Amino acid sequence: MKAKPDFISAWMRNPRQVGALFPSSDCLAQAMAAQVNSLNGLTIELGAGTGAVTSALLDRGINPKRLLVVEKDQILADRLTSQFPSLSILAGDASRLQQLLKQNELGLAENVVSSLPLLNMRIHTRIRVLTAIFNSLSHDGKLIQYTYSPAAPIPKQLARSMGVHGFRIDRILWNFPPAHVWVYRRFRTLLNDA
Ligand SMILES: C[S@@+](CC[C@H](N)C(=O)[O-])C[C@H]1O[C@@H](n2cnc3c(N)ncnc32)[C@H](O)[C@@H]1O
Repeated sequence: MKAKPDFISAWMRNPRQVGALFPSSDCLAQAMAAQVNSLNGLTIELGAGTGAVTSALLDRGINPKRLLVVEKDQILADRLTSQFPSLSILAGDASRLQQLLKQNELGLAENVVSSLPLLNMRIHTRIRVLTAIFNSLSHDGKLIQYTYSPAAPIPKQLARSMGVHGFRIDRILWNFPPAHVWVYRRFRTLLNDA
């Protein structure tokens, strides 16, 4: 796990928004990317930071033309654009995801892969962001989210009120701090799959 100057500067600008002192390890990034199962469907990455998960998504074989990357910090977004010139990288807020999709003439996504520090967000912001995410997912789409907390990244009651259910899929010790990977899907899809 390497400390990256860009990431530390972003943390110093806005610690609550960045939510960590270290970028995701390769192990965590690969575990997130492994959950994406539709390589040609639209995948949205939220809170890409220094691009560790972005690289893992490309290594996983995701069609770069079907990958949209959103990062709120303008400086990190500019760095991502230089690092991945062939990708669509937007400096934007995940809570405006539906508008961003519309402006870019994109439909619903199959996967949202999120490094957003959900548990650091104020409850109103968290609800706005999650509403935007679930409204941007196709009926059987999934949210892939990691958290450093032993608790779920979306409290059970909130998830239920949004009609989704989460599963802890993986625990990654080789990350600082160790992280848990969760996948959220709509109840209806789960029932149809059962
Ligand atoms: C934990 S860091 C990301 C770590 C990333 N996986 C990496 O390896 O660099 C969280 C990122 O989410 C971004 N972020 C926080 N709130 C956001 C929002 N509402 N919309 C988009 N990005 C956001 C932060 O700027 C930060 O880059």
